[in-house]
Amino acid sequence: MRSFSLLLLTASLSQCASAHSGAHHDFHADHAHRDLKKRNIVYNGQIASSYDFVVVGGGTAGLAIASRLSEDSNTTVLVLEAGDSGDAIADRINVPLNAYFDGLVGSSYDWQYKTVSQAQAGARPYSWPRGKVLGGSSAMNGMYHVRPSKVEVDAWASLVDGGADKWSWDKMFAAMKASETFTAPSSDIQSEGGIQYVASSRGTDGPIHVSYPGYMLPVVGNWTTTLANVGVDVSQDAYAGESWGAYVASSSINPNNWTRSYARSGYIDPLPPRSNLAILPNATAARIIFDTSNASNLTATGVEWTSASGAAKQTVSVKKEVIVAAGVVGSPQLLQLSGVGPSDVLKAAGVSVLSNLPGVGQHLQDHLSTAVTWTTKIDTTGSLHANSANANNAAFMSLVNEATAYVNITDLLGDFSSTFKQQISDAASTSLSTLCPACDDTVKKGYSAIYNTTLNTLLASPIGQAEILFSLVSSGSISIQAALQHPFSQGRLYITADDPFTPPTIDPQYLSHSADLTVLREGLKLARKIGQTAPLSSVMGDETAPGSSVQSDDDWDNWLVGVIGTEYHPSSTCAMLPLESGGVVDANLKVYGLGNVRVADASVFPISFSCHLQAPTYGLAEQAARIIRATYNGVGWPSASGQNSASSSNSSTSASPSSTTGTSSGKNGAEALSHSGSLVLLAAGALAALLL
Ligand SMILES: Cc1cc2nc3c(=O)[nH]c(=O)nc-3n(C[C@H](O)[C@H](O)[C@H](O)COP(=O)(O)OP(=O)(O)OC[C@H]3O[C@@H](n4cnc5c(N)ncnc54)[C@H](O)[C@@H]3O)c2cc1C
Ligand SMILES: *[C@@H]1O[C@H](CO)[C@@H](O)[C@H](O)[C@H]1NC(C)=O
Ligand SMILES: *[C@@H]1O[C@H](CO)[C@@H](O)[C@H](O)[C@H]1NC(C)=O
Ligand SMILES: *[C@@H]1O[C@H](CO)[C@@H](O)[C@H](O)[C@H]1NC(C)=O
Ligand SMILES: *[C@@H]1O[C@H](CO)[C@@H](O)[C@H](O)[C@H]1NC(C)=O
Ligand SMILES: *[C@@H]1O[C@H](CO)[C@@H](O)[C@H](O)[C@H]1NC(C)=O
Ligand SMILES: *[C@@H]1O[C@H](CO)[C@@H](O)[C@H](O)[C@H]1NC(C)=O
Ligand SMILES: *[C@@H]1O[C@H](CO)[C@@H](O)[C@H](O)[C@H]1NC(C)=O
Ligand SMILES: *[C@@H]1O[C@H](CO)[C@@H](O)[C@H](O)[C@H]1NC(C)=O
Ligand SMILES: *[C@@H]1O[C@H](CO)[C@@H](O)[C@H](O)[C@H]1NC(C)=O
Repeated sequence: MRSFSLLLLTASLSQCASAHSGAHHDFHADHAHRDLKKRNIVYNGQIASSYDFVVVGGGTAGLAIASRLSEDSNTTVLVLEAGDSGDAIADRINVPLNAYFDGLVGSSYDWQYKTVSQAQAGARPYSWPRGKVLGGSSAMNGMYHVRPSKVEVDAWASLVDGGADKWSWDKMFAAMKASETFTAPSSDIQSEGGIQYVASSRGTDGPIHVSYPGYMLPVVGNWTTTLANVGVDVSQDAYAGESWGAYVASSSINPNNWTRSYARSGYIDPLPPRSNLAILPNATAARIIFDTSNASNLTATGVEWTSASGAAKQTVSVKKEVIVAAGVVGSPQLLQLSGVGPSDVLKAAGVSVLSNLPGVGQHLQDHLSTAVTWTTKIDTTGSLHANSANANNAAFMSLVNEATAYVNITDLLGDFSSTFKQQISDAASTSLSTLCPACDDTVKKGYSAIYNTTLNTLLASPIGQAEILFSLVSSGSISIQAALQHPFSQGRLYITADDPFTPPTIDPQYLSHSADLTVLREGLKLARKIGQTAPLSSVMGDETAPGSSVQSDDDWDNWLVGVIGTEYHPSSTCAMLPLESGGVVDANLKVYGLGNVRVADASVFPISFSCHLQAPTYGLAEQAARIIRATYNGVGWPSASGQNSASSSNSSTSASPSSTTGTSSGKNGAEALSHSGSLVLLAAGALAALLL
């Protein structure tokens, strides 16, 4: 994944002309319609001097919360987003397959963070893409739409006082449903891919469209059969709390026009004009301004922001609350810049300490991943995309990877599982004293609480410890990725200057705990075994990475530290934990020590989930809006009516209440797609770099 940017750059150089022309033709609506979509976005820089709520970060969670809060016409809401609107690159965002061949990773719409060199993981820095545009990372992600398990969500809720009332599985299940409108696959797509789903587990009228691509590669139909043949259960329904096993996942795709459904297109564009909602792009929040008259209960009175480094700072006043939704990097960074964080960090950066809160930026957890790769002679997404006729076909251009499997501890380690868990248990106190990246006792207690929960609850259940992903993006090869889901390594991030334009230092401490290396290695061994198992094995040629020279555990470990990368799922840098456990927010998302500031985004999950993070982030945002509205205007659950134009179009849905995997009754347009002689310029070895 080190080569991710290079891959995207190379691919876009060779592909963007055809992708753009096709997308233009198929996806542009008329001008009047496009202008309507801009209604609540501020293009002239003119905003009011004060708002009830100022949301910092117009990303995945931020736009969802702003949309819900502004359903109350008496409440004024401003969103400050550091990135641009995204209008100039609408096709790159909207056309799903452009995520692989012409996406935002490595562009000026990507923050392009880098970690510091990772001592235990190849002694090199790692790339950390994050969206810098309206919609945030939901505008650049791989659209996998999968949910965490009940075990994980309930474990989160039990870590914080009052958590059970607000964040239990029942609450998050309802909130995740409320965020989505699910559309079942056509019967052809369903049978060809072997897709199983249970419509009653899914949302019916939420803003984010969740569906399946409009084109299916026949080889996907091999997936669950092959996984069953290696002993991994096939999931009938991974969306109702039992999220493990092999399945073909849904994606955040709008099946009405085969476009990406993301925070902006789902939560903002369909809204009518709202005079109480303003969304300001190109506005980087520099700090929150506080009334410090009560030092143990600071009150935010405004937010300072600027359009560019060196440009004049401006201040907008806040009447009720600041909602920080700047993401796993931006949220702890903004708190620290505002004088809220570990006092040693703030002093070193030259920031006055207003509230010593040691947990800000701590407890960082992430998923690491790489792939085993084989040559193939069959058609893949990459080979078909190289044909410009396909690049003009909207259904084809919605083809993203979907086949996945969340494999449990015994799938990975067999009889060694109990010894493995005992070893982790035995290592608890040395890990705490040597691997916790803080001296502060409260942060250490939080480290220990997360460690214990991961060991005693998450590893003791049937949930996935590794994710196995089927990747068909390249031309002439097929990859099977493995990704660690519940790391025992915890890292941190911190500012080094009193400047919003200086990126924070990011140190995930990848593989600092050896259990993570074991899970990753065994996941990759399982990936190899899957590729060698029928029926999938019949389409796999030579293994090109890591190749037959890698056999022993040492071989695997030596190879993987050079090629692994983030699966793009960092979390937990503003963890919802008790204050005495290094927490940053309480069960109401309120920052300890601050009277009227909440954090609401993927930085608050205290534990790493066995899933991609957009679905739980939308669920968190829905629940956050519910909590905030209950506080101020007694409305618990925001009504769906304010979203009517976002969600009125499920009439063509033929969701079946029970799952089926019947045989294919016909083709779904495969004949329209012909082989192409032109090759996408992707090196087989770069395949680990696939969008997730
Ligand atoms: C390349 C990639 C692929 C991924 N693939 C998947 C996938 O397939 N499925 C999945 O479920 N998840 C995926 N993820 C993860 C998922 O998209 C994120 O976890 C999720 O979107 C995070 O949401 P968020 O609201 O926490 O942050 P974001 O959506 O990143 O939003 C934060 C916003 O805050 C803004 N901001 C930051 N600092 C400031 C500031 N100081 N002032 C103003 N604005 C600021 C940012 O520009 C951004 O718009 C992927 C992520 C990436 C990067
Ligand atoms: C944001 O800034 C860029 C660069 O100056 C400009 O091209 C763009 O129009 C601005 N966007 C908005 C919404 O003002
Ligand atoms: C807005 O406030 C007014 C005056 O307080 C009140 O009468 C009205 O019901 C409120 N509207 C909503 C949607 O809450
Ligand atoms: C396996 O993949 C091949 C190649 O795409 C396809 O022809 C075949 O139908 C698939 N087999 C099953 C059982 O789905
Ligand atoms: C796709 O359709 C939705 C309605 O379902 C609409 O809101 C959206 O603007 C369309 N997207 C594009 C790019 O036309
Ligand atoms: C300051 O805030 C704390 C709560 O954090 C409260 O207990 C205390 O009474 C407040 N002091 C004053 C003077 O209001
Ligand atoms: C974690 O478990 C260990 C061993 O049981 C125990 O000593 C420690 O106190 C626990 N930590 C927390 C924070 O619960
Ligand atoms: C893991 O899953 C397999 C089937 O996929 C099952 O047989 C086994 O019992 C599971 N292990 C655990 C720990 O749940
Ligand atoms: C703390 O400050 C907030 C406003 O920021 C106020 O609403 C709240 O009552 C204060 N709490 C205490 C205990 O003083
Ligand atoms: C969407 O479909 C569900 C059932 O699948 C139905 O209950 C609901 O009324 C539909 N919503 C709209 C807006 O058509």
